[in-house]
Amino acid sequence: MLSAAAAPLPSPGRPSWLNAYRDFTGDHGFQPMRIEGRLPEDLKGTLVRVGPVTFGVGGQRYGHWFDGDGGALAVRLGEGGAWGAARAIDTPSIRAERAAGKVLYSNYGTAAPSLWRRLFGGAKNAANTSAMTWNGRLFALVESTIPTELSLEDLRTLGETTFEGTVGPAFSAHPHRVGSRRASYNFGVRYGRVPLLDLYELPDSGPIRRMGSVPLPGLVMIHDFIATERHLVFFVAPVRIRIFRVMLGLGSFSDNFEWRPELGTEVLVIPIDEPSKVTRFQAEPFHTWHFGNAFEQDGRIVVDSVRYPDFGSNQWLAEQLNGWASTDAQGRLHRTTIDPKAGTLRTEQVSDRRCEFPGATPLLSGTRHRYVYLAAHSGQEAWRGPQDTLVKVDMETGRETVVTLGREHYASEPMFIPRPGGSAEDDGWLLAQTYDATSDKSYLAVLDAKTPEAGPVARAWLDHGFPFTFHGTWVPAA
Ligand SMILES: [Fe+2]
Repeated sequence: MLSAAAAPLPSPGRPSWLNAYRDFTGDHGFQPMRIEGRLPEDLKGTLVRVGPVTFGVGGQRYGHWFDGDGGALAVRLGEGGAWGAARAIDTPSIRAERAAGKVLYSNYGTAAPSLWRRLFGGAKNAANTSAMTWNGRLFALVESTIPTELSLEDLRTLGETTFEGTVGPAFSAHPHRVGSRRASYNFGVRYGRVPLLDLYELPDSGPIRRMGSVPLPGLVMIHDFIATERHLVFFVAPVRIRIFRVMLGLGSFSDNFEWRPELGTEVLVIPIDEPSKVTRFQAEPFHTWHFGNAFEQDGRIVVDSVRYPDFGSNQWLAEQLNGWASTDAQGRLHRTTIDPKAGTLRTEQVSDRRCEFPGATPLLSGTRHRYVYLAAHSGQEAWRGPQDTLVKVDMETGRETVVTLGREHYASEPMFIPRPGGSAEDDGWLLAQTYDATSDKSYLAVLDAKTPEAGPVARAWLDHGFPFTFHGTWVPAA
């Protein structure tokens, strides 16, 4: 694996935020939350967040944050109150490991002990990365396998689904909706002699459709992509999986990622209406976990994403499970302009702040936006722990508005929720699940997105802590 130069630890010993990586065992349905401040009257709906909530089995701690067994947190807002529900997700493979009291399956950073399992055991469904609502149904997603349906009523697990055989073997955790097409798009990576990128269209109503498959340049890892009104855009970083070493038990997938900068990053621009007519070209080597938004302008495609010079961030993500990280992930917000005809891209770093989880208003997904919202690290040494700051970036002026929620308060991805009937792009709220390490409790921070620097207008408190979640979905009240 890669590593960046190690720097001294900000404070020795066990960080207080490490309690957020304790196994969550206190499942409950919707219960009233304590409100601090005042909830906006027109913010009505349910936020569902998904992340890893159990970090080992049978006394064995998993090898990577991405291995954690999934759980869901939901906060229902309306009528001046908030109700929270929290539950571990119960897939067949999670259940089998709990029953056996040991690791059975290979996962991202944990190798199956048995050769038979490594070769034929299939993927574990950790259901730990994001939540998707589609056609009134709720799903937990993880990129290595199929979706898991959850109940919107009480978050109980309803079961895995392939949507009548349409989806699989993999369905990424990052579907993107394009409003003008009244559809969402997603992908799955299918490993084989020729690895393939399977593409899916999820109409707002009607069945999921397979759009086609695009060959990939090797055993790659793709976490996210972005959609405009006409194209799907992928950045395929020069990370390659040494699959034979994984099968032989010489480490996990995560141990066997190889950074091959000489290969460059392959850019795929796929026309939604003619997916077989792919434009592909090589660019300089870089890695991307997440995209904020993209739009088309004068024959070019403008993409906002958090970009990394290499794959060191994977080590940072692994180290989070055990305390202060020693590897600097180095993610920065970038704006990239792709010229598909010329087969070139141009990139500008927008901010020098270490950040992740870029997002924009869902009302403009695939079209031109002005504001990007992020979780970020506040200071020089803060990158060794979880993100502790929220940032709003005005992409037109470069102005950054920074808000820190409290001392030793750590926020998950902020989500922008538009105000019903609002007109300005930032007329709405930022919702961020936050962990207060000083009280070992979690809350939902509600900020006015026009003036986030004023701090939360309300905090809806759980009476317990909940592990950090990666991604979520907003279900407006009926
Ligand atoms: Fe993600």
